[in-house]
Amino acid sequence: TYQNKESLYQLSEVAGEYFQDQLWKTEEGKNIALSYFQERGLREEVIQYFHLGYSPKNKNSFTQFVLSKGYKKEILEQTGLSIFKENSEQGIDRFRERIIFPIHSFSGRILGFGGRILQNHVKTAKYLNSPESEIYHKSKVLYGLFQAKSHITKEDNCYLVEGYMDLISLYQSGIKNVVASSGTSLTNDQIRLIKRLTNNITILYDGDSAGIKASFRGIDMILEQDMNVRVLLFPNGEDPDSFVQKNSSDEIENFFKYNIKDFIQFKTDVLLKEAQDDPIKKASLIRDIVSSIALIKNLIQKEIYVKECARLLDISEQVLFSELAQITQNKL
Ligand code: CTP
Ligand code: MN
Ligand code: MN
Ligand code: MN
Ligand code: MN
Repeated sequence: TYQNKESLYQLSEVAGEYFQDQLWKTEEGKNIALSYFQERGLREEVIQYFHLGYSPKNKNSFTQFVLSKGYKKEILEQTGLSIFKENSEQGIDRFRERIIFPIHSFSGRILGFGGRILQNHVKTAKYLNSPESEIYHKSKVLYGLFQAKSHITKEDNCYLVEGYMDLISLYQSGIKNVVASSGTSLTNDQIRLIKRLTNNITILYDGDSAGIKASFRGIDMILEQDMNVRVLLFPNGEDPDSFVQKNSSDEIENFFKYNIKDFIQFKTDVLLKEAQDDPIKKASLIRDIVSSIALIKNLIQKEIYVKECARLLDISEQVLFSELAQITQNKL
């Protein structure tokens, strides 16, 4: 109901304030979390801009705090911020000893949180996110969209990254038209959110095989929504955060300037490398690329891409057009 949702929003807002207070105003927060952010190269104004926070070690200090303010157990449970054992009034905090990333709606209300452990190589999952609730549907939310939306419109382009830290580091380096799909593989709803602001998406996923695979999937989804898609592949093992943190702004600017590829070029480069000189692999690669081109709705663009593809693969346009016709036929 409307009223229930309002209670969830209100509690989330209070939680956001609480986590920020823990970060800035407690010894534990300053010693553990603020210093962690500093080690990762984040400046204070950026930490504040994204309303980052810290959830302390104690297993129920948040739950106690909000119960004492009169918030009801049911609401705490529904946001997932507290977990109550059956029939118990003694809840424990979902987020403990983690740095906290609040996730905002398009209009800036807090919907949920992501929490990261402070040390790597611990047994628990690196990231923990709020569960689905009446206000938080992770497949319909993009992290950072609230902060990025005006920049996306202004640049008429949206960079898409995997993680919270990628987005924040890019923001700090001056690249502000960025959103993250955080905690879920890209969904059609998320692409639709971007489409309200621009028709252009540039994928900046991690430079590893998982990132490349996710880029291939993202390319087709974006093309199916009649949008333009480019890809920037980071050097082996780097993600946008690690890359930005170890390079100067000139180096970053140049890397972006010379390495962003349209999707055909990106797929061709990746697949050609895989295929080496194997003609069978090369044939299946061509089919793979043509099947992406088949998703393009605009006929002029389609033709432009076929021509580019022919050039890149050194194969006749005619063959590609007939391959395209075949794929389109099979889909009907
Ligand atoms: N993620 C998640 N749950 C996990 C791992 C990752 O939800 N168990 C999401 C988070 O939103 C995270 C993003 O996926 O920001 C990227 O994860 P990953 O690339 O594994 O993070 P790293 O770059 O390794 O770590 P860091 O964010 O600290 O740089
Ligand atoms: Mn503020
Ligand atoms: Mn990764
Ligand atoms: Mn990463
Ligand atoms: Mn990273």
